[in-house]
Amino acid sequence: MRSQFRNSIFLGLLTLLGVSCSTTSVPTFPSAEKRERSDFVAHGKQGMIATAHPLASQAGLDMLQHGGNAVDAAVAASFAISVLRPQSTGIGGGGFLLYYQEDKRSASAYDFRERAPQRAHRDMYLDSSGKPKGFSYAGKTIPDASVNGHLSVGVPGLVAGLLRAHRDFGSLPLSIVMAPAIKIAIEGFPVNLELANAIVRRLEVLKNFPGSAEIFVPKGKPLQLGQLLKQSDLAKTLRLVSLHGADVFYKGEIAEKILAEMQAGKGIISAGDLRNYAVKIRQPLVGEYHGYQVLAMPPPSSGGVHIIEMLNMLAGDDLQKVGFHQLESIHLLTEVMKRAYADRAKFLGDMDYVDVPLDRLLSKEYAFRLRSQIKPQRITPSLELAKAPQVPHESPSTTHISVVDRFGNGVSTTQTINFTFGSGVVARGTGIVLNDEMDDFSIKEGVPNAYQLVGGEANAIEPGKTMLSSMSPTLIVGAEGKLEMVVGSPGGSHIISATLQTIINFLDYKLPLDQAVHAYRFHHQWLPDEIEVEYGVMPLKSVLTLQQRGYKVRVATRGMGDVQAIARSENGWIGVSDTRSIGKSLGY
Ligand code: DON
Repeated sequence: MRSQFRNSIFLGLLTLLGVSCSTTSVPTFPSAEKRERSDFVAHGKQGMIATAHPLASQAGLDMLQHGGNAVDAAVAASFAISVLRPQSTGIGGGGFLLYYQEDKRSASAYDFRERAPQRAHRDMYLDSSGKPKGFSYAGKTIPDASVNGHLSVGVPGLVAGLLRAHRDFGSLPLSIVMAPAIKIAIEGFPVNLELANAIVRRLEVLKNFPGSAEIFVPKGKPLQLGQLLKQSDLAKTLRLVSLHGADVFYKGEIAEKILAEMQAGKGIISAGDLRNYAVKIRQPLVGEYHGYQVLAMPPPSSGGVHIIEMLNMLAGDDLQKVGFHQLESIHLLTEVMKRAYADRAKFLGDMDYVDVPLDRLLSKEYAFRLRSQIKPQRITPSLELAKAPQVPHESPSTTHISVVDRFGNGVSTTQTINFTFGSGVVARGTGIVLNDEMDDFSIKEGVPNAYQLVGGEANAIEPGKTMLSSMSPTLIVGAEGKLEMVVGSPGGSHIISATLQTIINFLDYKLPLDQAVHAYRFHHQWLPDEIEVEYGVMPLKSVLTLQQRGYKVRVATRGMGDVQAIARSENGWIGVSDTRSIGKSLGY
């Protein structure tokens, strides 16, 4: 209570001083239980898993301890977290997975992100006057058809992706790997604060769709903190997948129910879209930073490209000398972020459809040129870097899982249904929350998406194309091909900056991993032209110094990201789950 009071005075003071806050309510990192920082840290000699829910981590740990490898553990945890965080991820969504095999020194990148349906077209979310249009359902118009309702759904890829990774590298039977998720769906779990809050936040959308209302707003009342959430339809769906594989999802009984839901809501996903869904195995990006190899996800993730681009810009700086969380270092990093996010808007899209100047964006020479434009005394106005406009929001959705096994192999995977509860639609009879990933396309050049990201031509909608993502699963490999770090985060546009800051906090500032993860974060995404800072954790003095220095400062009302990280330690592995959420690392 006292800290809430202190927080509101703090926000009030900032408002008086002209620092913009996106809400006047008091934000806290939403943890249902009071836990110490050390509760978010684990040590293990042989293996480690870090996820955003203790039961998902337990599912993964069970696999590791029963002879499974990192892929078995990651797949078990992914299915489990689909049940445990229906607001963030699920089998109605998609994601990316990077896998590193120490003995072969090889890495694989799985792209199982959603694709645009064949009937999708460039201006499908614009009305006749070119403005973003609403979604009509049961005689009502719900705003923003690219975010809410059946039209916002991309063809889901999670089931195909996880099963493909499991087929390629898993060692335990699928029935064993999926068992924890099915058990949690049948037996239920107590609703935590994050889930309860997410339902309230999306209530206006969820309550319109019978399949969603039935589960999350039973009898018209949002699920309450502590209530047991059982998902019997989802349990049946998962069991079908565990018995019959991906075909039942894309061609069989589950596909039929998804298609029936599409028909009921005038969605455009067809039987052909589901039948033809294909996972793409891509070549991971490889960067070099202080002698480490940085393995990252290639487009349609923008995260990998820009993390390497930013690390390249920083490679010549002695960050320890510049200072940790000092005005000079915040300025330098902000200028670096601005340039990378400007490039994101200009160049990035699905490389199967558009040319992306990857070689240039990843080259050291290009980074050197960008770095040389950055001056200690000058705040570069964003519009000097490229031209375009803006609008607000951030949702506690998406999730990241990091795993290492006893062989030294690692998985870094980020998965999402995009916005909180995705489209808000559950396909009746399946328990599947359908994504709203179509909003990650640029629905019109210059019109920002739900994360205020502005996109361009390269990310315009086309049938079959994959929408651009910020998800940045990353692996860092050291000398002799040994995995050193596994890291990633949810957080919309904050994913890239949260992952970058965790990496440099660990590699450059040499902070212990827990401090590298917990340290306050800041963010600049080119547009809007403002630095966003983490409320309450960044000292007021620093906020004011930035403002005096000429920065437009926005105070974030929630923690930025929810990093799940693992690093090699003296005795094996250390795992750290972000205190910004309720995750847990478990090792053995
Ligand atoms: O792929 C992306 O970049 C977004 N759909 C991720 C959304 C997200 O992280 C929301 N989380 N807070």
